Amino acid sequence: MNAVAIAPQAQSAPRTAVVLLGTGVVGRALLTLLGTPAARSLRLVGAANSKRQHVLAEGVAPGDVAQHLARGREGRDNAPLLAALDAAGAERKVVIDATACATEASRHAEWLAAGYHVVTANKALAGGHLSGWRALQQATSTGSVYGDAATVGAGLPVLSTLRRLRHCGDSLLTLEGVFSGSLSWLFNQYDGSRPFSALLRDARRLGFTEPDPRSDLSGEDVARKLLIIARNAGFALGSDEVEVESLVPEALRGVDTATFLDRLEELDEPLRARHAQAATNGKVLRYLARLNQRGRARVGLVEVGPDHPAARLSGTDNQFALTTTRYHATPLVIQGPGAGPEITAQALLGDVLAL
Ligand SMILES: NC(=O)c1ccc[n+]([C@@H]2O[C@H](COP(=O)([O-])OP(=O)(O)OC[C@H]3O[C@@H](n4cnc5c(N)ncnc54)[C@H](OP(=O)(O)O)[C@@H]3O)[C@@H](O)[C@H]2O)c1
Repeated sequence: MNAVAIAPQAQSAPRTAVVLLGTGVVGRALLTLLGTPAARSLRLVGAANSKRQHVLAEGVAPGDVAQHLARGREGRDNAPLLAALDAAGAERKVVIDATACATEASRHAEWLAAGYHVVTANKALAGGHLSGWRALQQATSTGSVYGDAATVGAGLPVLSTLRRLRHCGDSLLTLEGVFSGSLSWLFNQYDGSRPFSALLRDARRLGFTEPDPRSDLSGEDVARKLLIIARNAGFALGSDEVEVESLVPEALRGVDTATFLDRLEELDEPLRARHAQAATNGKVLRYLARLNQRGRARVGLVEVGPDHPAARLSGTDNQFALTTTRYHATPLVIQGPGAGPEITAQALLGDVLAL
């Protein structure tokens, strides 16, 4: 059996005990942050990937998690993780969800109702079926906190700003923006000089897309973010009430990833035609999320003129333009890097520390 590293703060009861679900790109970046002085008030008592977990109420050194998971034999079961949170004797017990797993997300409300705080990058509950959102609202009314900064804009202050405005009696009228780093980069680059498929290959190589780029091109992730913002603004939208324009041709939706990657050129002609039409109109293409005053929500390709804020985006930047009763003449625009493991992990840590 491996020697168990005890975190330095394990001697006395910690203020906050945390468990981490998901040790992928974001989870690993969070483990790095948990090893810094900024996280000294926290004790990590367990971590899990999809198959294994390592649990110790006395504390796990964040830097040793990968080794424990690689060598350990503990299978996945949330009960010991929650038991370690209870056993740590901390004032606050937090489950951090850095997975994209819908099954874990479906447990968030249950954990909140049981007195655990939940801090999440996983959008599947808040951006999923309306019944899940409603369960979440009910569960947080008990005093447990749902930290969701990382679900939208990788921690750009979108949800916090919206809540602050609402707290002051302001209300969201319309919302528009570019909510996907990969789609932002693709359409900021696409000027018709190179085929879209070539840009998509570049974006994938640079790590801007998911390994299967259909996750980005389908628009579903953007739709989930739109739902999260809209619901936080008071629009109780069902997941079927967002009109989603997928950029994945019908014939490529059911094929495996390797086949899709082999046939990327099939995306080129429809997008070339859309781009040419936009150029004729003096416009450019942007993949926008939009919510209008009547609660109509749509994500998809839009032609925008050179004066539109989205026309001036660069890199993988996200943009959120909020028109409210008080930000009425011009919208409040929040813009900046909206993806990336370090800033997403920081958003998670920020939500934990804010407890
Ligand atoms: N990457 C970004 O820049 C970014 C930005 C904002 C938000 N997010 C969100 O952050 C979340 C994580 O993204 P990522 O890029 O880190 O994904 P990732 O690299 O694919 O990592 C996902 C992790 O979750 C684990 N996992 C899956 N099911 C699990 C379960 N039931 N219990 C415990 N662990 C489980 C996986 O385990 P295995 O290792 O065993 O597969 C993996 O370690 C996603 O919801 C994503 O949408 C990501």
